[in-house]
Amino acid sequence: MENILVYDELDAIREAGKVAAEVLRELKRIIKPGISTKDVEIFFEDTLKRYPDMEAAFKGYQDYPASLCVSVNEEIIHGIPSERKLITGGDLVSVDLGIKYKGLFVDTAFTYMVGEVSSLAERLVETCRIALSEAIKKVQVGGKIGDLSAAVQNSVETKGFSVIRNFVGHGIGRVLHTFPEIPNFGKENTGPELVEGMVLAIEPMIAIGNYEIDILDDGWTAKTKDNSLSAHFEHTVAVTKKGPWILS
Ligand code: MF3
Ligand code: CO
Ligand code: CO
Repeated sequence: MENILVYDELDAIREAGKVAAEVLRELKRIIKPGISTKDVEIFFEDTLKRYPDMEAAFKGYQDYPASLCVSVNEEIIHGIPSERKLITGGDLVSVDLGIKYKGLFVDTAFTYMVGEVSSLAERLVETCRIALSEAIKKVQVGGKIGDLSAAVQNSVETKGFSVIRNFVGHGIGRVLHTFPEIPNFGKENTGPELVEGMVLAIEPMIAIGNYEIDILDDGWTAKTKDNSLSAHFEHTVAVTKKGPWILS
């Protein structure tokens, strides 16, 4: 099955995941007021040049026009980098990037708080980060996808935020998106079973207001319909006998 990998393949994804994590870590000091979302893409592309065997996974994926996604404030995911889109203090900036290496994929995302953000925005980001880690804790052989979904939904909704429903996490490995889908809402002990060697891109997307979305005229950018702030975190996680192995 294309979504069940052997340990050598997991090691390869981990190698690419280290580079992805390094980029996200470095972006903490690069994402500052005045830079454009295009500058974020340029930094990623420049970093990848140091790793000739690695390439940006999103470029050309279903005709997506850029190497990564940068989504600001009410934008949830799939923001297309632009030199005209400038980051300012108080923004929430979600960066989502994927790397292809040795025919395998890693996919990870992080939401940055630029300068001073409102305490509500800070709580949103913290809630999304915790929701991801709660879901990762549920990763075990014999568990169910619904365990992850419920973990995200419970930790987000008890804090009064909403879970975006139009987009899901996904299996990943020899392709970017594969079985199983991982909704960010659902019930424990339902859905597909987690199998050793499965690799999951777990990615809560949450909002302060309603979960309804719109797609911008660019055909890609998903934003909250009510323009409320949104956050997105993602890790690529392998299911192993010893539990979750975070590869990104
Ligand atoms: N990174 C997205 C995900 O987490 C997919 C982006 S594909 C693109 O699944 F084409 F929109 F870039
Ligand atoms: Co992603
Ligand atoms: Co993903």
